[in-house]
Amino acid sequence: MAKLERKVAIVTGAARGLGRAYAKRLAGLGAKVAVADLNLRSYEEFEAEAKDMTAESTVAEIQAGGGAALGVEVDVRDHEAIEAMVARVVQEWGRVDVLVANAGGGRGRPVDTKAGTLDPALLQLVTEMNLFGTVYSCNAVAPIMKRQRSGKIITVSSVAGTAPSVDGGYAHYGAAKAAIAHYTRYLAQDLGPFGITVNCIAPGVIATGRIMATVIPGSVQSNRDRAELVALRRLGTVEDCAKVVEFLATDLSDYVSGAVIPIDGGLVRG
Ligand SMILES: NC(=O)c1ccc[n+]([C@@H]2O[C@H](COP(=O)([O-])OP(=O)(O)OC[C@H]3O[C@@H](n4cnc5c(N)ncnc54)[C@H](O)[C@@H]3O)[C@@H](O)[C@H]2O)c1
Repeated sequence: MAKLERKVAIVTGAARGLGRAYAKRLAGLGAKVAVADLNLRSYEEFEAEAKDMTAESTVAEIQAGGGAALGVEVDVRDHEAIEAMVARVVQEWGRVDVLVANAGGGRGRPVDTKAGTLDPALLQLVTEMNLFGTVYSCNAVAPIMKRQRSGKIITVSSVAGTAPSVDGGYAHYGAAKAAIAHYTRYLAQDLGPFGITVNCIAPGVIATGRIMATVIPGSVQSNRDRAELVALRRLGTVEDCAKVVEFLATDLSDYVSGAVIPIDGGLVRG
């Protein structure tokens, strides 16, 4: 029997990039997967993401592979909408076993988001997209998992949440991702007595279509230069991260909770 047969998973931000890889991997393990995203065709924004698609959406890709998937367009910053999305999943499939609270990301340029001169609107947006969205998603599944007395929650931080950039840029994103890591530790304490594990992954530089397209070639921040800072001398792939999500979503991690796991190839921030 497949590891996640009869299990139900929700992956936020799953229309492209890392979330899409998590959704497809969990479906490959037998889970029914709810693909939740602001825009189920967000892959259209980046050529490399669009080229990688084998069907018109992550949902269609999973279904073409014989899996069960449900697409929901939802903004994780809206807690009522998130609760409605989770209620719909429960109505459809009766339970929620895995949540990957992956939706998020940064906005603005590093040069415009230095710690000492943060624009209030950008601070608000990025905190809501990342920290609030994560908390809302976790809070929406918690009562269901408590009733089941089982569940696996995976949150998403970043290397930016562990170490600052050298120039203090992208501080709003780093602070929100650090808060997610610490929130995860609190949530693990709260939900542990119900048999629910809660862990966080902290990816380094992962070669998604977005990351590859938003590089400034030749700059200190370029991805080529960034790879030089990685012990393994390569950027990460979405599958590198999906493998760790598989570990955290299956019984392999049954006695792991409150952990923040870097997936960065041994990156040192430069
Ligand atoms: N790619 C990396 O190198 C890297 C490194 C560290 C952490 N991360 C984190 O991993 C996650 C995924 O990264 P990615 O590179 O795949 O990003 P991405 O921008 O390619 O994909 C993010 C997806 O989330 C969706 N999304 C954004 N805001 C949303 C909202 N408010 N509500 C619902 N959906 C929303 C987008 O539509 C998009 O489909 C993010 O949380 C990101 O911060 C990525």
